[in-house]
Amino acid sequence: MNPSSEQLAREKQLAAAAALRWVRSGMVLGLGSGSTAACFITLLGEAVRAGQLKVQATATSLASEALAREGGIPLLEPRRGLRFDLTVDGADELDPHLRLVKGGGGALLREKVLATASDYWLIVADSSKAVAQLGRFPLPLEVVPFALPWVLDAVAALGGAPVLRMDKATPTHPAHSDQGNLLVDCHFNVIADPEKLAAQLQNIPGIVEQGLFLGLARAAVVARGAEVQVLRP
Ligand code: 5RP
Repeated sequence: MNPSSEQLAREKQLAAAAALRWVRSGMVLGLGSGSTAACFITLLGEAVRAGQLKVQATATSLASEALAREGGIPLLEPRRGLRFDLTVDGADELDPHLRLVKGGGGALLREKVLATASDYWLIVADSSKAVAQLGRFPLPLEVVPFALPWVLDAVAALGGAPVLRMDKATPTHPAHSDQGNLLVDCHFNVIADPEKLAAQLQNIPGIVEQGLFLGLARAAVVARGAEVQVLRP
């Protein structure tokens, strides 16, 4: 039986609380996007306001940045040489090798920038995200608007069914990323060779970023019921 949305919400909270144990005062943190990362940012803000932790952070989306600001977490602007001791982010799917699909919230570009600039990239997830094989969740792409028709053709030629993501609030309009680009969700069903597909997608002009995050996660905190598991690649 699939876990209820209430159970998944509890698991997100549990995973986020467990991830807080990775944080030490003095750290420069990357803050991920999505509902699980939001639980983490809220808990981190509470610890900062209580004077238990002193950290600085950069967020992977405007929404996470607003949440961090509300929580009283000091924010750092992007600059040369800036590295993150720890970034905590969510996932749409993760496989046993800790290969991930991300970008369900449309923040994949900034998420990958921070993941790559982090010494330790930690994933927080509820049990529904852990899968044997990637691909059931449609793979997000961030696409430059001019290139859209050719990107759709190229993805179809790779065997995917690309769907332009529409805005939740105004469903007749396309959704835009924080950078003003379009988002395309690609239905592959099964991604048999994530490394090969990532290389093929990265080679298509107009795709600014693709949602396969490979070889980046150092650990994943996955909550299942009342239990928290720490998975490593
Ligand atoms: C946003 C993401 C999120 O981390 C991912 O969608 C998971 O979100 P949630 O924790 O709400 O399930 O990649 O671009």
